[in-house]
Amino acid sequence: MSTKHPPRSSTPTPLSARLASHPHGAPASAAGKHPAPPCTLVIFGARGDLTQRLLMPALYNLVVDGLLDSGMKIIGINHGERETQAWCEDLHDALQKFAADKASTFHAGKLDDNAWNWVAQRLQYMAGEFEDDDVYQRLAQQLGGNGRDGAQGNVVFYLAVGARFFKPIVERLGKAGLLQQSADDSGPFRRVVIEKPFGSDLASARDLNQHVLSFVNESQIYRIDHFLGKDTVQSILAVRFANALFEPVWRREYIDSVQITASEVIGVESRGRFYEQTGALRDMVPNHLFQLLCMVAMEPPNSFDAETVRNKKAEVFDAIKPLTPDDVVFGQYGKGPAGAAYRDEPDVAKDSRTETYAAARVRIDNWRWAGVPFYLRTGKRLTARHTEISVQLRSVPFRLFRDTPVDALTPNVLTLRIDPTHGTSFDFNVKTPGPVMQIGAVHSSFDYDDFFTEHANIGYETLLYDCMLGDQTLFQRADSIESAWAAVDGVLHPKDGSAVRVHEYAAGSEGPAEAQALLARDGRAWRALTPGESRKS
Ligand code: BG6
Repeated sequence: MSTKHPPRSSTPTPLSARLASHPHGAPASAAGKHPAPPCTLVIFGARGDLTQRLLMPALYNLVVDGLLDSGMKIIGINHGERETQAWCEDLHDALQKFAADKASTFHAGKLDDNAWNWVAQRLQYMAGEFEDDDVYQRLAQQLGGNGRDGAQGNVVFYLAVGARFFKPIVERLGKAGLLQQSADDSGPFRRVVIEKPFGSDLASARDLNQHVLSFVNESQIYRIDHFLGKDTVQSILAVRFANALFEPVWRREYIDSVQITASEVIGVESRGRFYEQTGALRDMVPNHLFQLLCMVAMEPPNSFDAETVRNKKAEVFDAIKPLTPDDVVFGQYGKGPAGAAYRDEPDVAKDSRTETYAAARVRIDNWRWAGVPFYLRTGKRLTARHTEISVQLRSVPFRLFRDTPVDALTPNVLTLRIDPTHGTSFDFNVKTPGPVMQIGAVHSSFDYDDFFTEHANIGYETLLYDCMLGDQTLFQRADSIESAWAAVDGVLHPKDGSAVRVHEYAAGSEGPAEAQALLARDGRAWRALTPGESRKS
């Protein structure tokens, strides 16, 4: 891999600066951030859901934080005629809706007119089909191309489009000369942001990497996994490496097992067509859940330099033992207290065998983690929304308590809460008050809201900002994408050609009973998914 940041433009604020401790309640800008260099952001999929729901709120938040350069321009490309003014109004309406929605991650409250006007003045809409060569000629003109160089100035091409367009768009950008940048990194940058899903199995991911890398260098590609934009995910490294308490026990000698959960209450909503082809495993496991696993399992890097961090993560991916059908349990929600069955959702086949739940037992075959199972589960229409990591420590020797009324000791569990509550909890044992030695399991909890005035952002701010700075730390590298797909390929394409069984669970439940059996086999159990419980106290 070729990158060494900073490639060009201004010096990036490294991840380390974001992780730097700052005084209780200090504003985000206190971490010493400076505006990103001027650039044109070209969004393919300008009228899509992702642009409305995530990119625009993120750009707005970056403006509020003073992190965008006044020379920035935003060109939105989409099929369908629309005046720039009308596009602008659509985006404004959507932003207002998200700002008013208490459940949304966009915490703007009331929109700041100045910040919105800043964005609005820079918007320009271009109608066009993504596979039409003419679009790229027009785009080159918009970007000030001079015949030799397809564009002038820094450009970020953001592919907020369906995966089938990734190859054609990159190819056409390349052929139109829009991805050319000087070999010594001295001139303007040309970067391509590619959304998930990056491939649908090992073969397709390899093919996509190969295709894209024939038009750009690895240092120009920013493969998004939006989980990495979450403060609470980045904080895993801070918790591990900024405290003396955890790292000494962060190994097989002290850790019994790790559970990584991403449970959702929502169903597939309007995404039936996409989900039918995808399923819970592809949608969540080799990307989001493996990223969480890597943050927990990686060795300490020597610095937060992008390649140093990504090399450490790559080592974890390499050490994951390829999963077999025996290591996973699939489920699909049937009718239940939370509503209709998956098969009754729009655009879903009545006899669909797509899994909406996946649980897996993952083994990491290296010195630190040998023998420590990582249990992963994700599912839609479950009883509660929790994205969290629970690290269970081994039990202490019981001997000391053999002559007391204590008959069992609860193991210590450290829980890193990613969503919807943000924080860290620790379960440990104390003596209960009174004349006899009795042990009580207690729960201690840190919550971001109690310590910091800022709301956790929606994640895309950090990713967009880092991309403009040229910091690839939080983006996925080609080799890791392929290793992740390689780890699940034996489940997606079992050797004997059979498909993994899909067990039904009731919408609104904890998932299929067979998932419990996966852990029971090892003498363990999943932590309960308690509805409406913040797990703060
Ligand atoms: C997306 C998946 O990548 O992540 C969705 O496609 C899923 O199916 C979502 O709902 C979960 O992300 P978050 O940030 O809401 O936990």
